[in-house]
Amino acid sequence: MHLLIPAAGSGKRMGAAVNKLLLPLLGQPVLAWTLRAADRAHSIEWIGILSQPGDWPAMEQILASIDLSTPVQLLQGGVTRQESVYRGVEYLYGLGTVERVLIHDGARCLATSELFDRCSAALEQVDGLIAAIPVKDTIKVTASGPKGIQIESTPERSRLWAAQTPQGFRLSLLWQAHREALAQGWQVTDDAALFEKLGWPVYIVEGEESNLKLTTPWDLVLAKQILQQRLDPAR
Ligand code: CTP
Ligand code: MG
Repeated sequence: MHLLIPAAGSGKRMGAAVNKLLLPLLGQPVLAWTLRAADRAHSIEWIGILSQPGDWPAMEQILASIDLSTPVQLLQGGVTRQESVYRGVEYLYGLGTVERVLIHDGARCLATSELFDRCSAALEQVDGLIAAIPVKDTIKVTASGPKGIQIESTPERSRLWAAQTPQGFRLSLLWQAHREALAQGWQVTDDAALFEKLGWPVYIVEGEESNLKLTTPWDLVLAKQILQQRLDPAR
């Protein structure tokens, strides 16, 4: 399985001076945790990191310090996550030999190698899938009303899933979907949404509750707790 890691953001909501993926987390940069989990997954044979050239020296340094067994390539990312993935998919499609791809956000540094392998295995059976977990909260759909934000409806919770990554696709279809998105001007926040727009099936693989996306400083606090707990379960 080929894995693309979108890592070309700047982490605005984290509010740090650098890309949040370069921030330290229990002594290692966030991206190092993501890479090490992917490297431990038996199914992953190649990793491409979509990133901004300005971050390459720091990323080269991370790669030099963690000694992965999986080959890793730095590829230039884009202005949006969608454009970053587009570029990675374009690269893989150009190789002409890759059939399937997993995409996993660099910011989801707590995903386990088992989750990668579970997604890889499931992708043998379907052409589109995402890791997701059942929603715990009651979700309200709203619109702006005369006196504030007003509830419109409450979707039935049993049908709601919170999307995570990895997301996996047959490469030729994902490339087609991204080309169509470019032609139509579709802007989406994950790749599954492109398949949905085209009416192509995307299946759910059970994700992990601890598979947070590091977005705000609070997520860093939670991630540290979770990693500490994994390293020392007796704590
Ligand atoms: N990403 C990317 N290219 C972009 C923007 C985002 O590859 N142009 C990546 C991020 O590096 C991250 C993942 O997509 O691993 C999910 O995006 P998000 O959590 O939104 O990260 P940022 O865009 O960096 O954060 P923010 O939106 O707060 O600026
Ligand atoms: Mg973003």
